[in-house]
Amino acid sequence: METVFHSLFILLSFVAISHTQPLLAGSFPISPNFAAVFNFGDSNSDTGELTSGLGFRLPPPNGQSFVFKPPSTGRFCDGRLIVDFLMEAIGRPYLRPYLDSVSTQSYLRGCNFAAGGSTIQKANAASFSPFGFGVQVAQFVTFKYKVLQLIQQDKTLENLPSEDHFKNGLYMFDIGQNDIAGAIYGKTVDQAAAVIPTIINTFKDGINRLYWEGGARNFWIHNTGPIGCLAQMVSIFGREKSKVDEFGCVIGHNEAAKLFNLQLQGLVRNFTQQYRDANFTYVDIFSIKSDLIQNHSKNGFDQSIVVCCGTGGPPLNYNDQINCGSTGTSNGTTVTSNACNDSSKYVNWDGIHYTEAANRFVSQKILSGTYSQTVSS
Ligand SMILES: *[C@@H]1O[C@H](CO)[C@@H](O)[C@H](O)[C@H]1NC(C)=O
Ligand SMILES: *[C@@H]1O[C@H](CO)[C@@H](O)[C@H](O)[C@H]1NC(C)=O
Ligand SMILES: *[C@@H]1O[C@H](CO)[C@@H](O)[C@H](O)[C@H]1NC(C)=O
Ligand SMILES: *[C@@H]1O[C@H](CO)[C@@H](O)[C@H](O)[C@H]1NC(C)=O
Ligand SMILES: *[C@@H]1O[C@H](CO)[C@@H](O)[C@H](O)[C@H]1NC(C)=O
Repeated sequence: METVFHSLFILLSFVAISHTQPLLAGSFPISPNFAAVFNFGDSNSDTGELTSGLGFRLPPPNGQSFVFKPPSTGRFCDGRLIVDFLMEAIGRPYLRPYLDSVSTQSYLRGCNFAAGGSTIQKANAASFSPFGFGVQVAQFVTFKYKVLQLIQQDKTLENLPSEDHFKNGLYMFDIGQNDIAGAIYGKTVDQAAAVIPTIINTFKDGINRLYWEGGARNFWIHNTGPIGCLAQMVSIFGREKSKVDEFGCVIGHNEAAKLFNLQLQGLVRNFTQQYRDANFTYVDIFSIKSDLIQNHSKNGFDQSIVVCCGTGGPPLNYNDQINCGSTGTSNGTTVTSNACNDSSKYVNWDGIHYTEAANRFVSQKILSGTYSQTVSS
């Protein structure tokens, strides 16, 4: 395995130096060799950061299929997220949230800064999460600074990552979905497109800071999924048949995500030219999730857009006032958003997030390497 990776990397480095574009597909550099893993993002990879940071618990059935069956895993899901499956694949414990104050787990092998609702752009008073990408990067830089100082003071500290862990760590990113959702909300695709360069630039600033101040050299970047296929979007914007496509996804939303992804890919390509001593992998989550939704039956799922943990019945089983696991009133009746009988048959968990079964599907596709493009140092 190791040899295969290495020869592939040598090949890729050669091609990268010869300025071949676009990036090459097919390699897969995630491996147990990374000393630590640091993740940045939104709810798609939040392993409990928002619930720790803001001090709340996600009610069951969130976390119901999780292997440890804790009262609340802090994940917006019935079980594991993509990042959990990726950690399993390289034999690592699930990433501990950076703000988690009580745990049996150390930060030795990394931690997770991703928080639900986060955007690449700076948070404002109306933001769901105060932990925008810039804050997450700043949290990491502060974390690293403190850890290295502590180690210097007490060389016997063994539960903290060393300089070597930071240098040889894998830095993962899955963020941008909330920026796109905000940019397209009540706007045309052209209006949303006008904001995308600013979003991309802010992401670029964060990566630059991680490279220069953080010492990060191994970057693993997920693009953004087809947000127009989320029940939340369909319930707000897709009330008329003419506003959704043949798969039930809101017209325009996925186009905005695609434009973002195109520029994100361009940014990654530019980084590979600029930072020749770093590894970059760009993962096309959009294509994987589109395939999952459009070909859901073939992929073993009964429902692509209908929500598992919701209320109201078909066509969406979703009420944006009554979150998964909570109770509210609808038309004067008290109703609760409960889980469906078999979440493994649903792509969508709660109207916004994917089920564990869907996350497993996406992870297997990622691990196949078919959807990643890597340029290696
Ligand atoms: C990548 O570099 C090219 C050439 O310098 C530039 O035109 C383009 O805007 C850059 N793309 C991004 C997303 O930064
Ligand atoms: C890039 O990845 C290869 C293969 O894992 C590794 O040998 C190399 O050290 C990495 N480069 C840096 C700068 O970490
Ligand atoms: C759905 O499956 C068909 C047939 O395998 C394939 O051609 C198509 O690209 C798939 N759709 C997506 C979005 O991947
Ligand atoms: C509330 O009642 C109205 C009128 O009967 C109906 O059209 C609507 O679908 C109901 N809403 C929900 C959420 O059940
Ligand atoms: C779950 O299964 C039970 C028993 O088969 C059935 O009565 C119920 O309607 C099902 N619930 C849903 C949400 O499908």
